[in-house]
Amino acid sequence: MARILTGITSNNIPHLGNVLGAMLPAIELSNKAENESLYFIADFHSLISLKDAEARKNSINAVAATWIALGFDTQKNILYRQSDVPQVTELTWYLNCFTPYPMLANAVSFKEKSDRLSDVNSGLFTYPVLMAADILMYDANFVPVGKDQLQHLEITRDIAERFNRQYGDTFVVPEAKIEESVMIVPGTDGQKMSKSYNNFINIFLPEKELEKVIKSIKTDSKGVEEPKDPDTCNVFNIYKLVADATQTDFLRTKYIEGGIGYGSAKLLLYSTLMLKFSKARETYNHLMANTQELDAILKQGAVKAAAIANPVLARVRHKLGYL
Ligand code: TYM
Repeated sequence: MARILTGITSNNIPHLGNVLGAMLPAIELSNKAENESLYFIADFHSLISLKDAEARKNSINAVAATWIALGFDTQKNILYRQSDVPQVTELTWYLNCFTPYPMLANAVSFKEKSDRLSDVNSGLFTYPVLMAADILMYDANFVPVGKDQLQHLEITRDIAERFNRQYGDTFVVPEAKIEESVMIVPGTDGQKMSKSYNNFINIFLPEKELEKVIKSIKTDSKGVEEPKDPDTCNVFNIYKLVADATQTDFLRTKYIEGGIGYGSAKLLLYSTLMLKFSKARETYNHLMANTQELDAILKQGAVKAAAIANPVLARVRHKLGYL
């Protein structure tokens, strides 16, 4: 049996980058009989940037609803909220004391965010340690993530190995699982899709709003009849991630031959998204209107998660002389 674990920060509604880069590959792994999967809503992480309580609650529900809407089986697996198993903050402290300061100071995501954000708090700095605790707390073997999280996985492995060297085998050393084709999903401006760049596509938006976002995707100004380069076009590069191979080949040929305008390509992308996610959109809207159903699922998930976390924490406390 392999244990799979991953988390999504609840600072917004998950966007297409989260969905394609992490959530769908993770759900595919979770459907295999031999895997046990723990997927969680990283609501402690959200506090680094999101200070508003109502917005946090809404986003927690949105992330939970997205997991379920995309097909995560919460009976076979475990869906929980990070803060419902607060033991993770105790483990974070222990791990902090085994994390060299320069390792965090040199983390790419800290450097990149601290240059850009006005609120550079200590949480932002120590965020990879909380993430390491999330993973090590549950003896996870594999962690499906997008490419931007790879360094955090390396930090996690480094901390686990450092601890294991000093105290003997304590932590399972996890491996990142990255799906090459979707490891960096581009946003509406061609950069990595991200909430912070405001270039994201929210697949749960009402129809007209989603259409507007798709229409806002940046392209060059080539006319309908002109041949176009599919590989440098943002619309095509998103389309190929959601369309099947035949549809993708068809659009590629049309681009190369000329005769299709960007407006039509955007409409094709919009209708493909609507079709691909029609069932997910329905379930998502139902759950967001009935959040008591989400609460019940998350509560049950937290009980199952704590049953795995507690013995691991006891193992660590024992090694460190706290037990
Ligand atoms: P977060 O919430 O920023 O992103 C969630 C997942 O989505 C992936 N992702 C993308 N993949 C491809 N293309 C994109 N444009 C794109 N944008 C985001 C991310 O790589 C990630 O896998 N720190 C984590 C949450 C977390 C976590 C964990 C993950 C906390 N503890 C333990 C795994 C294990 C984060 O902020 O991801």
